[in-house]
Amino acid sequence: MISRFIARTLEVPVVYRILQAPFQERKIAPCLAQLALTPQTRLLDVGCGPGTNAHHFVNTRYTGIDVNPDYIQSAQRRHAGRFVTGDVTDPDVLPREQFDVILLNSLMHHLPDDAVAHLLSRLVQRLAPQGRIHILDLILPPGPSAARVLARMDRGRFARPLDAWHALFAQSMHIEQLVTFPLGVPGVPLWQRVYCVAGTA
Ligand SMILES: C[S@@+](CC[C@H](N)C(=O)[O-])C[C@H]1O[C@@H](n2cnc3c(N)ncnc32)[C@H](O)[C@@H]1O
Repeated sequence: MISRFIARTLEVPVVYRILQAPFQERKIAPCLAQLALTPQTRLLDVGCGPGTNAHHFVNTRYTGIDVNPDYIQSAQRRHAGRFVTGDVTDPDVLPREQFDVILLNSLMHHLPDDAVAHLLSRLVQRLAPQGRIHILDLILPPGPSAARVLARMDRGRFARPLDAWHALFAQSMHIEQLVTFPLGVPGVPLWQRVYCVAGTA
């Protein structure tokens, strides 16, 4: 009941934005370090939330998509770009276009294995020839630790061990890079995260 209340509260855009603020830049930093963006870059941000990362992509052809209409309204009010409300597990929801960069930042731990596998296979079909999928997500550490407790408390119920992420990604894509990195407050890692760059299998 408490976790349901927390999940409902986080769906309010301003609450989510305030709680994300201390961490949002470090959550996406490994990806930003790799991207070479131009005004022609077609970028799809899947599970974009209330436009958490949209400010990094103002000089691109940006599309954000999220299932929460309140998040999308908040994003539209505050950012340039195209924002779409939709459940990306629905095969008909993704834009029927090609993208150079497809970003999934902290979406996949909200989806069960079969939904992740289907979504990735549809996203791969939308990659432009040199396009890449960039995934950042939450690792469930194997042994007892604060990071494991926090991952278990997350409103996304599908944080996975690193080898499970690797196996899911490898089903649909050619993995070029898979690294882990800690996230927390200075000197105290609170979560473990995975960053994966992949192309067409
Ligand atoms: C942890 S938030 C991450 C938001 C944003 N990417 C960020 O970095 O802050 C997960 C997001 O995925 C969205 N989401 C969850 N399931 C979804 C689905 N089936 N289709 C589209 N968006 C979904 C949620 O509404 C939420 O905005």
